[in-house]
Amino acid sequence: MKKNKKIILITGVAGMIGSELLKKMIIKNNLIIGIDNFTLGKKQNIKKYKSSKNFNFYNIDLSKKIENRNIFKLLQKKSIDEVWHLAANSDIQKGILDPNVDYRNTFMTTYNLLNFIKTKLNKKTKFIFTSSSAVFGDIKNNINEKIPALYSCSNYGSMKLASEAIISSFSYLNNIKSYIFRLPNVVGKNLTHGVIFDLSNKMNDKKEKFLQVLGNGEQCKPYSHASEIIKCIFFTINKKHQKFINYYNIGQNDKGVRVKTIVNLLKNKFKYKKKIKYQNLKQGWKGDVPKYNYSTRKINKLGFKFSLSSFEAIKKSIEELKL
Ligand SMILES: NC(=O)c1ccc[n+]([C@@H]2O[C@H](COP(=O)([O-])OP(=O)(O)OC[C@H]3O[C@@H](n4cnc5c(N)ncnc54)[C@H](O)[C@@H]3O)[C@@H](O)[C@H]2O)c1
Repeated sequence: MKKNKKIILITGVAGMIGSELLKKMIIKNNLIIGIDNFTLGKKQNIKKYKSSKNFNFYNIDLSKKIENRNIFKLLQKKSIDEVWHLAANSDIQKGILDPNVDYRNTFMTTYNLLNFIKTKLNKKTKFIFTSSSAVFGDIKNNINEKIPALYSCSNYGSMKLASEAIISSFSYLNNIKSYIFRLPNVVGKNLTHGVIFDLSNKMNDKKEKFLQVLGNGEQCKPYSHASEIIKCIFFTINKKHQKFINYYNIGQNDKGVRVKTIVNLLKNKFKYKKKIKYQNLKQGWKGDVPKYNYSTRKINKLGFKFSLSSFEAIKKSIEELKL
């Protein structure tokens, strides 16, 4: 291995954002260590990279203490330059039905990962964490980075917030820089969950007699494409930062897209003819935040603007769906 090769650890590498990140990273001459246990991620998302000498994959359940000998051997006498911690439960509803899901896959994954990397840091190690707008809960307006995130209304949001907290103390105590990105709804190519994933699966299920949409269809949220989220994170971590912990709300700051609009786009894509039923409910489920919009002034001031509107991000992701 060349001396100046960067060592990059990506958790959740087989997921939607992780696999998009891997695609971008692998073309550079880095050594990439990927971890996933395929809770939601798919083997096919990383299949074509597995033969690359720059990519080492480990099937590890991060909700438990890391004891895999091979990864310890690979990192013996080496330090990690960048950690991208993406592994989490990303299915918010699942975590509402069973809080253990977010305790294990959203919080313990963070806790165990931090313990694992503690002896593998260097002075310039950067820790990147994909948090969520869910840490804010159902606050309607002008959510900026200075507002304390204390009103989460999902176990997912709470366990993301707990992860943010432990990353903060870890960064301070170990003298590394961390970057917490609160993401909006992210769509992309290898979807593993979310509104497009759910609705397109239901539309293609021959056993379903009609399409049941969760909520009244008026839920309206901003969306960004995974490729732009990654671009934005690259841009940000390459800027100089003085603080050991840095928070950013990132994503498109427009009026968002209604669920009804997404249903119509999918209806056209799949030429869906069956009846569509909406519920008489503002939320898709208890814990859902039906409308939100947060301030992206800080990231815009740093010089990054999302070029795809929420509607364009949704359209792109639907175009990328396999028929
Ligand atoms: N997609 C979004 O809308 C969105 C919004 C805000 C934040 N985020 C965060 O961004 C990150 C990536 O999101 P995504 O959309 O790619 O989700 P994803 O579900 O596609 O990817 C997460 C990956 O983590 C893996 N994972 C889960 N538990 C694990 C465990 N115990 N051990 C090892 N691997 C485990 C899953 O198998 C999956 O491949 C997540 O942390 C998510 O919470 C996503």
